[in-house]
Amino acid sequence: MHQPFKDRIRNYQQRVDGRLDEALPPATLAPVRLHDAMRYAVFNGGKRVRPLLVYAAGECLGIDPELLDGPAVAIELIHAFSLVHDDLPAMDDDDLRRGKPTVHIQYGEATAILAADALQPLAFSVLARIEHTPDTARNALVRLIADACGSIGMTGGQSIDLAAEGKTLTVDELEHMYTLKTGALIHASIVSACLLSEDLDAARAAALDNFGRDIGIAFQIKDDILDVEGETHVIGKPSGSDEKLGKATYPALFGIDASRKRCDELLQSGLTALAPFGDAAAPLKWLARYIVDRGQ
Ligand code: IPE
Ligand code: IPE
Ligand code: MG
Ligand code: MG
Ligand code: MG
Repeated sequence: MHQPFKDRIRNYQQRVDGRLDEALPPATLAPVRLHDAMRYAVFNGGKRVRPLLVYAAGECLGIDPELLDGPAVAIELIHAFSLVHDDLPAMDDDDLRRGKPTVHIQYGEATAILAADALQPLAFSVLARIEHTPDTARNALVRLIADACGSIGMTGGQSIDLAAEGKTLTVDELEHMYTLKTGALIHASIVSACLLSEDLDAARAAALDNFGRDIGIAFQIKDDILDVEGETHVIGKPSGSDEKLGKATYPALFGIDASRKRCDELLQSGLTALAPFGDAAAPLKWLARYIVDRGQ
């Protein structure tokens, strides 16, 4: 690699922010309050981990970033919608996100629900408009991202999360919930790049598939650890929110040490899966370590 991936992170973040700006209706377009709330939900300081994974998986496979903009934008729009709903009073009832008032605090509950409602189809509109990609690959992307978002993916996981409040889950049940609520979109970020590769053999596709699964679960365990250990002003969301709601989380059920251990295990497993790619996987490896080591 010519340049450490870290130096390229900002470029990719700026790149996806530019594409998100193009995809979102202007805040001056009627209905102004709705469009303003959609933009607030997207442009308020997210880390952009999922788009970064799309671009890093693309580097691993030698794919032109132009081709990756569609899935990167679509997945970030779905992620943003999921956060707006996740924070609503009916769900986690949180009033701070990315260091700012959550969308329903800023705009009211009805507008927050509608803004999230509108972000989701926008994601699929972006995918439908992808250019320079064969129809089969575009269709496969739509299917991948729809499944990752729906009842067999993120939305299903959120449903399990709510039903599990105050309950004791086994490790397998908990990791199943994490695989759906958080892992599905992270896994789809990696697999998006695979669907755009023209010469990916089954063994390397399986390696990236495994990497995506491991890192998706690790991401949520780390999020749970930060909910316990992080300070509100650093993590940008209310510390201790999970405990307050009696959420079934890895730290709550198995302790902080076991949580850290499982995160490290998943990281090592993910890194090992990337072995067939050699140096081309350096960006993905960097992101995997970041996911487990991050402070917010
Ligand atoms: C938070 O995701 C929600 C989870 C799935 C745990 P991120 O930590 O990626 O949130 P932002 O987009 O950077 O704010
Ligand atoms: C949310 O998990 C996962 C989503 C699908 C949005 P959390 O409820 O732990 O996410 P945060 O901590 O509020 O960001
Ligand atoms: Mg939640
Ligand atoms: Mg939450
Ligand atoms: Mg959390």
